[in-house]
Amino acid sequence: MSRDDEVARLVSRHFKMDKPETGLPLAVSPIGPDEIAAGINTLLSGWLTMGRQVQEFEAAWAAEVGTKHAVCVNSGSSALLVMLSALVETGLLKRGDEVVVPAVGWSTSLFTVAQAGLIPVIVDVAEDSLVLEGEWDRPVLAVHLLGCPSRAVGPMIIEDACGAHGGKIAEKKCGSIGVASAFSFFFSHHLSTIEGGMINTDSLPIADAARSLRAHGWIRERSDAALAAAASPEIDPRFLFVSPGYNLRPTEITGAMGLVQVPKLEGFVAARRANHAAWCVAIDALNLPLRVYPESPGTSHAAFAFPMLIDADSHLDRRTVCGRLEEMGISTRPISGSNLIRQPVFPKVVGARVEGPTPVADAVHERGFFVGQSQEFTEIYLDRLVEGLKQAFR
Ligand SMILES: Cc1ncc(COP(=O)(O)O)c(C=O)c1O
Repeated sequence: MSRDDEVARLVSRHFKMDKPETGLPLAVSPIGPDEIAAGINTLLSGWLTMGRQVQEFEAAWAAEVGTKHAVCVNSGSSALLVMLSALVETGLLKRGDEVVVPAVGWSTSLFTVAQAGLIPVIVDVAEDSLVLEGEWDRPVLAVHLLGCPSRAVGPMIIEDACGAHGGKIAEKKCGSIGVASAFSFFFSHHLSTIEGGMINTDSLPIADAARSLRAHGWIRERSDAALAAAASPEIDPRFLFVSPGYNLRPTEITGAMGLVQVPKLEGFVAARRANHAAWCVAIDALNLPLRVYPESPGTSHAAFAFPMLIDADSHLDRRTVCGRLEEMGISTRPISGSNLIRQPVFPKVVGARVEGPTPVADAVHERGFFVGQSQEFTEIYLDRLVEGLKQAFR
């Protein structure tokens, strides 16, 4: 028996997936025996730092999303930072340019815009989807929040697809719509490499800039490395730096786990999307003072998590509802950063400003919450959620 087979056999013998007997967990990790065996085999291979497996994962992910290039990094937040910095590095955006950012998003959706030297202009999200919609006169960061595709348009679309693997607008997959996009492969996501992220783009200059920015600013892995080396013949090309970069590289374990996961994504997303639709119908039918968010017309929801909004005139506030759900083992969270302008960090986000009122984001901030979603959730989990919500609003 080969070493790989031996590892696979041992891992499947010892692998245990915890599925709670009651309640609803926030997430079920998609990391199973195949991914663990791939990780162990990578550790045993002796090549641990970014190499061939990361390259193969990048190629598989570019093909999956439908872009020419994909550049792997160590988290979704890193992907956002590298992507936005690459837009500045390539001159597609200039330092000080304004970027429209939804008031409801993840914290680093906002921070990385400022960290890249751009000015975040915060606007409200749409009432029906809780994401940015409509037409804008400046570049937009379309955050596909909790898997709901953002249909915002503008002179440049930049996608935060960190939670929208497999989502679509018309037939275009999230991550292939804008000039560049960022994905996260954190533990709880559709596809997971424990931590991890990816920048997708059709632009070779953006991909090259991202390759330098993720790894010290050097020229390795750039398509134009030979050209850059020839332009600075006095410097050893192994340590030739062309961009003020970071070190946000993934390890080979990320590549190995990702490669095992990519072929599973379509099935995972189909299961999540079907759950999302069924959950919307079942919860709506309860006639509770609670709003759900069905898929927007013309889109295919990636169903990362399941958001709900308690009515303003409900007899119960969010603290009570979520407290009761948690007591029943149903995990809840606020809807990401909720209204980011109301977070204590907001004054520290350099240059950020607000444009217009944000009543929807305020409602989310005060009355919104989400429960988990997973490809592993069968009807039993919906029954538990329905029963839990009935009890919570009693
Ligand atoms: C919309 C969005 N942006 C960014 C991130 C950050 O990704 P990571 O946790 O991999 O840094 C997340 C994480 O869930 C997210 O949902």
